[in-house]
Amino acid sequence: MAVQTRSHWQQARVVETEDVADGVRRIVLEVAHPEHAAPGTHLDVDLPTPSGRQLRSYSIVRSEQDGRRLTLSVQLSPASRGGSKAMHALTVGDELTVSGPVQSFPLSVGASRYVLVAGGIGVTALVAMATALRRRGANYELVLVGRSRRFMAYLDELRAEHGERVRVHVDDEGTPLSVPELVGEVAAAPTTTELYMCGPIRLMDAIRSSWAEHALPETNLRFETFGSSGRFEAEEFRVRLPQFDRDVVVAPDTSILDALTAAGIDTLSDCRKGECGLCLAKVVDVDGTIDHRDVFLSRSQKQRCANLCLCVSRAVATDTSDRATVTLHLT
Ligand code: FES
Repeated sequence: MAVQTRSHWQQARVVETEDVADGVRRIVLEVAHPEHAAPGTHLDVDLPTPSGRQLRSYSIVRSEQDGRRLTLSVQLSPASRGGSKAMHALTVGDELTVSGPVQSFPLSVGASRYVLVAGGIGVTALVAMATALRRRGANYELVLVGRSRRFMAYLDELRAEHGERVRVHVDDEGTPLSVPELVGEVAAAPTTTELYMCGPIRLMDAIRSSWAEHALPETNLRFETFGSSGRFEAEEFRVRLPQFDRDVVVAPDTSILDALTAAGIDTLSDCRKGECGLCLAKVVDVDGTIDHRDVFLSRSQKQRCANLCLCVSRAVATDTSDRATVTLHLT
């Protein structure tokens, strides 16, 4: 069983649901064992789906009543037969099995200035951080980036709470974010800035490479990923495992990790977001192109393609084949 056991699992009841943007649903849970949920924490949710039980991680957007009421927000993946569809189908009164709050994106104390950059649904990881910074009286800015306002959850709420500290960049309004300008401002600022970002991998890669070009301290750049974005559209591909004499098909809305679990093949995993590297597998052969969606491997490691992260990375076919095939060896 690849689902990682958290320190404790508990029952949670759905007490509210509401659409907060096109395809984004706010789900409020009441948990059986409340505990403090600091900014940057997420909940792991153990979901029954048509392809078996799946573990999904969702940022805790708000924690109220000393951690008894926890708000998550979930974007529906168009092709979902799994996690996001199951979450969107929840109604008030439904019961779920969830972890306690898991910290994976801690907010530091005492930086001179903070910049929080949210791409799309990545805003869910930053709402609680922005509130914490406001309460602390910190110097901060919240940069919200999206394709269109109708897909951008919490926009009005954040503007009402943070006023002039919110900067909005919307592609279809002709105001896209210029990453070189943003990072250039950080580099030119007289005070040290910590930048926290959560969003699609392309935005994160752009910020990371601009950060490196300006030789800004790596430790001042913090990020959290979500494994739903890559360089290519997700498509079905095949994984070959000669060590088990098995072939497994990975559907567009499933990860390799979940497909292997559903096929009864044990693997190690922890973050399930391409961050920790615990699920790394050796790539023996590829017919197609690997779409690395992790932030664990370096750019040169991704180019060498000797390994991939099972939890987020995928493969796409080349023009000459109708389905990619990746041959892996699990360690
Ligand atoms: S489980 Fe952490 S990188 Fe895959």
